[in-house]
Amino acid sequence: MRNFDQNTITEAVLERIANTPDPRIHEISAALVRHLHNFVREVRPTQAEWEQGIAFLTATGHMCTDTRQEFILLSDTLGVSMLVDAINHDHQAAVTESTVLGPFYVEGPPELPSGADISGDLTGEPMFVTGSVTTADGTPLAGAIVDVWHSDEDGYYDVQHTGEEAGIVARARFRTDEAGRFRFWSIKPAAYPIPHDGPVGKMLEAQGRHPWRPAHVHFMIEAPGHDKLVTHVFENGDPYLDSDAVFGVKDSLIRDFARFDAGTAPDGRVMEQRWCHLDYDFQLNPASSGAARAA
Ligand code: BEZ
Ligand code: FE
Repeated sequence: MRNFDQNTITEAVLERIANTPDPRIHEISAALVRHLHNFVREVRPTQAEWEQGIAFLTATGHMCTDTRQEFILLSDTLGVSMLVDAINHDHQAAVTESTVLGPFYVEGPPELPSGADISGDLTGEPMFVTGSVTTADGTPLAGAIVDVWHSDEDGYYDVQHTGEEAGIVARARFRTDEAGRFRFWSIKPAAYPIPHDGPVGKMLEAQGRHPWRPAHVHFMIEAPGHDKLVTHVFENGDPYLDSDAVFGVKDSLIRDFARFDAGTAPDGRVMEQRWCHLDYDFQLNPASSGAARAA
């Protein structure tokens, strides 16, 4: 086989990989070749543009470290992460919708007692978070693990801080009580731009896009016999709800962060300043009910 042209090259590559032993690897490789070749035939890049594309992907790799995953940011900002999420979480009306994990989750957060304040030495508007975890039909799930993490009032996560201010803050793990409930205090998170000082930031700029995400609190919830839920709750009224840089907003995940004047909070804490309350009831899918592949 030789003398390929722009039409015959695709078939030649597909034939070359025809004996791939693992059927799934074969399926993925063949689709990749077909789509990539069709993309190139559609775009007809100049040699210089092809080199720019290679340089962009190389820079994306070089930007990655233990704490910075530029390829995930690329996937997020191209809508691929939410597409994978949608394919794997066939939404059933009765359960809470999922959204993108993002790069700021840290494995094994400290487990704290119900009602703890996770804001450490951060300043900001106090936020009381309450919620429940139930099955789709509303049966409480006691002992569910609820991991939470969110940005500070300047829009930064603890892992983005360096030096003296570094340390675990605005992230923790709680367990639901017998009624499937949990609660904690923190400070209200702010909207923030995703890290945009690398190739993904350059791409957003070239596409005339902003890097902002609306204010949100992340939740990762696990209970035996149920699918893990990865989601956020967004603040109603945030100006970025309709232009989230990573396409993660769903109506069902938006809530008022209700404002209250100084006074006594529902758990008896005496508040000397204005504070807000976020309440959300999460429903989990029975295990493995998500459809990863089209039937
Ligand atoms: C986040 O919400 O933490 C996030 C998600 C995607 C990209 C960057 C940040
Ligand atoms: Fe976030």
